[in-house]
Amino acid sequence: MNIDADTKLYCLIGNPVSKSLSPKIHNLIFNYSLVNAKYLAFNVEKEKLKEAVLGIKALGIKGFNVTIPFKIEIMKYLDEIDHKAKLLGAVNTVLNINGKLKGFNTDGDGFIKTLTDLDINLKNKRIAIIGAGGAANSIIISLAQKGVGEMVILNRTLNNAIKLKKKADKLLSAGRITCMELSEKSNINGNFDIWINTTPVGMYPNDNQMPISKEYLKKGNLVYDIIYKPRKTKLLIEAEKKGCKILNGLDMLINQAIYSQEIWKNHLSGIPEDFSRIKKEVCKIID
Ligand code: ATR
Repeated sequence: MNIDADTKLYCLIGNPVSKSLSPKIHNLIFNYSLVNAKYLAFNVEKEKLKEAVLGIKALGIKGFNVTIPFKIEIMKYLDEIDHKAKLLGAVNTVLNINGKLKGFNTDGDGFIKTLTDLDINLKNKRIAIIGAGGAANSIIISLAQKGVGEMVILNRTLNNAIKLKKKADKLLSAGRITCMELSEKSNINGNFDIWINTTPVGMYPNDNQMPISKEYLKKGNLVYDIIYKPRKTKLLIEAEKKGCKILNGLDMLINQAIYSQEIWKNHLSGIPEDFSRIKKEVCKIID
């Protein structure tokens, strides 16, 4: 699509952004949906966030995504924050409504959609979440809202898991979330139905690592690794060998982008048919 005086601009702000797949995904969405818009990634210096936001307002950029390290700090520059983003304490999508900025968070929704698309019923499931960082935060809060059975947070630093539990406990009835320290010596027993890896362990170039030992995985478990490079981490390779169902982070990534587009009120045509086209193109970059 040609760029002309009517072309609308959307962007990503973060630091670093050079490896982000968001420009590719959003520009594919614009192309397939014939929306006259472009999406760029801006590497914003850590102390220049306020100026970047003022620039976005001044230039009338229609919407933007926020990534590390600004997902929390951005909130103080917004005029309004949606309920879920407030709950998560982080914003990854912003809508510019005539100079007023409203923040949202689509991270957890993108994750949940991958499960509901596969008709995975979360009620009464025992779920192990590995990691307690920003990604785990969105996932655990979203799962808590979906009324899952029980969650166990397994994390290298127990205290980070406990902090996250306290936040999610407000949404779940007492005792449904427990925490466990993750170490070589940990004995993880718990008959889990679903395992979710939110740590970077196993990510390219450290793709020979696994966040937990394969001995814990059982046939029929769902093992979801939110890493997408490599598309099949060592955890997923071992899980597949054991007869587990496996999922990587690519669908979640594309779903988050589609949710951002919905917030920006771009009326997309062809989604979900275009989903697999987008995925194929993104895979070409990853592999
Ligand atoms: P994000 O915010 O994107 O989720 P992160 O904050 O870098 O990513 O890390 C996510 C989680 O991965 C954290 O819980 C971290 O554990 P700590 O709380 O102990 O820092 C975990 N993590 C990172 N590297 C790890 C490693 N090599 N082994 C085990 N856990 C790791």
